[in-house]
Amino acid sequence: MRDGYLMHGGDYNPEQWLDMPEVFDTDIERFREAKINTVTLGVFSWSKLEPKDGEYHFEWLEAIIDRLYANGISVILATPSGARPHWLADRYPEVLRVNEKRQRMLFGTRHNHCMTSPAYREKVRQIDTRLAARFGAHPAVKLWHISNEYGGECHCPLCQKAFQGWLERKYGTVQALNDAWCTAFWSHTYDSFSQVESPSSIGEYSIMGLSLDWKRFVSDQTVDFMEQEIAAIRAAGSDKPTVVNMMYYFGGIDYFRMAKKVDAVSWDNYPAWDKRERKETAQRTAFWHDVIRSLKKKPFLMMESCPGATNWQGVSRLKRPGLVRAASLQSIAHGADGALYFQMRKSRGGEEKFHGAVLDHYDGNDTRIFREVCETGDMLERLGRVSGAGTKAEAAVLYDWENLWAMEGSWGPRNEGMRRLSLECASGAYRALRRLGMNVDFADQSCALDGYKLVTAPMQYLFHEGFAERVRSFVEKGGIFVMTYWSGVVDENDRCFLGGTPHGLMDVFGLRSEELDALYDWEENEICLAKDGLTGMRERYPVKYFCDLVKPKTAETLMVYGKDFYAGQPALLHNSYGSGSAWYLCAGACQEFYDDLYRKLAKEAGLSGILPGEIPDGVEVTSRETEEYTFIFAQNFSEGSVSLALPDGEMLYGSADGTLEPLGGLVLAVKK
Ligand code: GAL
Ligand code: ZN
Repeated sequence: MRDGYLMHGGDYNPEQWLDMPEVFDTDIERFREAKINTVTLGVFSWSKLEPKDGEYHFEWLEAIIDRLYANGISVILATPSGARPHWLADRYPEVLRVNEKRQRMLFGTRHNHCMTSPAYREKVRQIDTRLAARFGAHPAVKLWHISNEYGGECHCPLCQKAFQGWLERKYGTVQALNDAWCTAFWSHTYDSFSQVESPSSIGEYSIMGLSLDWKRFVSDQTVDFMEQEIAAIRAAGSDKPTVVNMMYYFGGIDYFRMAKKVDAVSWDNYPAWDKRERKETAQRTAFWHDVIRSLKKKPFLMMESCPGATNWQGVSRLKRPGLVRAASLQSIAHGADGALYFQMRKSRGGEEKFHGAVLDHYDGNDTRIFREVCETGDMLERLGRVSGAGTKAEAAVLYDWENLWAMEGSWGPRNEGMRRLSLECASGAYRALRRLGMNVDFADQSCALDGYKLVTAPMQYLFHEGFAERVRSFVEKGGIFVMTYWSGVVDENDRCFLGGTPHGLMDVFGLRSEELDALYDWEENEICLAKDGLTGMRERYPVKYFCDLVKPKTAETLMVYGKDFYAGQPALLHNSYGSGSAWYLCAGACQEFYDDLYRKLAKEAGLSGILPGEIPDGVEVTSRETEEYTFIFAQNFSEGSVSLALPDGEMLYGSADGTLEPLGGLVLAVKK
C-alpha cells in the first residue's frame, strides 16, 4: 500500500463536472502544483455509474483514472454503496430504512439503506463486482475504499428477522435468552424468538440485554455488509488492499471488530478547531488518532479533513493560517501514512457547496487555502521516508465499545453524560501519559495486554468473559494496572455479578467496592494523602462525578476522602499482586491528579518518554520507527513559542534548533 511516500489528496468528484471538461484540465494542473498524489474517486457516483438498473457506464471513470495516472496521481477507488440512485429505491422499496418508531423513510440523503435487504446487497454486489473487474488491476488504483462512513440502523421487518436469527444462533433456546436478559423482571419473558423486536421508544426499551444485543447485531450486520462488499471485489479478481473510513468518536460500530475484516483503517477528522483552546482540540484529536491507529496497530490514513472551514458545524471558523499543515502533520505523527482532504473541489450546488476544499468556486491557485495545501504537499513529500513506519507504545488505555454501550444504556447511579464522563476518565490517563512524552495505545478488553508495562482501565463497567483473567495474569507477571470506580459490575449481558465487585479481581486489587456515590456536575469532594510516604503527590486534589466507597482487604490505602459522611475512607489504593501492582482509583479525578499519579507510575514501571523531561503544555511529541530509524515528531499547539532539547539526528522537517512557533512542527530522524 505504501511505496515510500505519504499520500496527499482526497475526495474528488469529477462526475459532478462531466459537462465542463475544462474543469478537469484545471484540476490536474492544480493537483500537480500542490503535490497531490492520490485522489479518492467514486464515493457517491452510483447514479453516474449505473444510471438505470443494469445499465453500467464506466467509460467516463476510466478516462479520468487513465488521465490521473498519466499525471502521476493514484486513485483510492470507492464502492458507491454510501448513497444509492433514485431508481434503486423506487424499484426495490425494501432498501429504504425503517426508523425505531417503525416508519419507513422516503428516498433522500445518503447512508440510509437497510444493511439486511437482499435486494440492496445484490445490487451492491453487482456494481462492486463490475468495478473490481474493470479497475481492479489498473495500476493507478492503490486501494479499495469500501463504502463511506458506515453507520446507522434499520428496524424493518427484514432486519427484525435477521436479528431474531442472530439471537437464535447466539442463545440456541429462548430459555437461554430469557436467562441472559433477566426477563423475569416485569414479566417480560419471551415465549419464542419471533416475539423479539428491536428496542423502540414505542415498545420495548427496558431490557438492557436486548438493547446491548441489538447494538451488537447492528454492528455485526454492518461489518457483514462490508465483508460482502469486499468478497465481491475479491471474487472479481482484485487483490488490492481495502480500507474503510471511520468517524470521530463514533459509537455505533465496534471498530475493533470491524478493523479485523479490512486491510487498513482510516478516519475522517473534523475537529472544531478554534472553538476551544487549540491545545485542547489537538489533544482530543490526538486521542482519536491513537484509537484508530490502535485498531490494527499499523499505519492508517486520515481519509478526510477539511482544508478550509466545514459547512456543517454550528459555527464554522476559518482554519487559521498554518492549521492545514499542522493538522496534516499531526495525523502523520500519530501513525498515518496519508493526510487526505474532503474535498478536492467545491461542488457547485448541493448541501456541501460551501464546504472547504482545495479548490473553490473561484478556481484560481492564488488563494490562501491553496497555498497552504501546496505547503502541506511540500512537507509530506519531505517526509516520505516515514511511510510504513510503526508506532511502539509501552502503555495502553482501555477503550471498549461494548462497555460504552452497556454503561450508557443502563440505569444506574448516574444517567447523565455517562459517555462523556468515561471519555473524560480515559483521557485523563491518556493525557497524563502523553505529557510524559510517551506513545500511548488503546486496547479493548479482548486485546492482548502482554507487551505493555502499564495499562489503565477507566470505568470498565462491563467485563467480557476472560477479561478478569487477562488482567490477573498481566499483574501477576509484573504489569502495573490502574482501574477506576464502576468497573467489573456486570457481565456481557448487563447482568450484575453476584458476590462482590470488581468481579473476579477483588483479590488482585485487595478490596471490594461497596457503594457508589454519584455527584452532580457542580459538586466536588476531595481526596487527601492518608499518610506520609506517597511521594510525588500533593496533599489534596478535588474529585468529581463519582465516589466509590470500598472495603480494603489487603490493599494499602494511600489517599482518603476529605468530605461528606465518607471522609477518611479510602479513595486511592494499591495492592501488590504477583510481581506486579494493582492500583484502584475511587473517584473522578482532575488532570493534576492524573499527571502526578502517572508520573509516579511511569517511573515505577521504568517507562521513559521519547524526549528527556516532560513535554511543555500544548506540545505534542510522538515517534514512529523502522528497523533503522526512530522518527521523532514534535508540534506546538500552544499560543507561545517553545524550545525543545533534541537528540542528534537528521532534521527532516522544521527548525534545527528545536524551536517551535505556535502551530510549528518538526520531524527528526534518529539513527538507531
Ligand atoms: C464526511 C463525509 C464526506 C463529507 C464530509 C463533510 O462525514 O464522509 O462525504 O460529507 O463529511 O465534512
Ligand atoms: Zn432493514
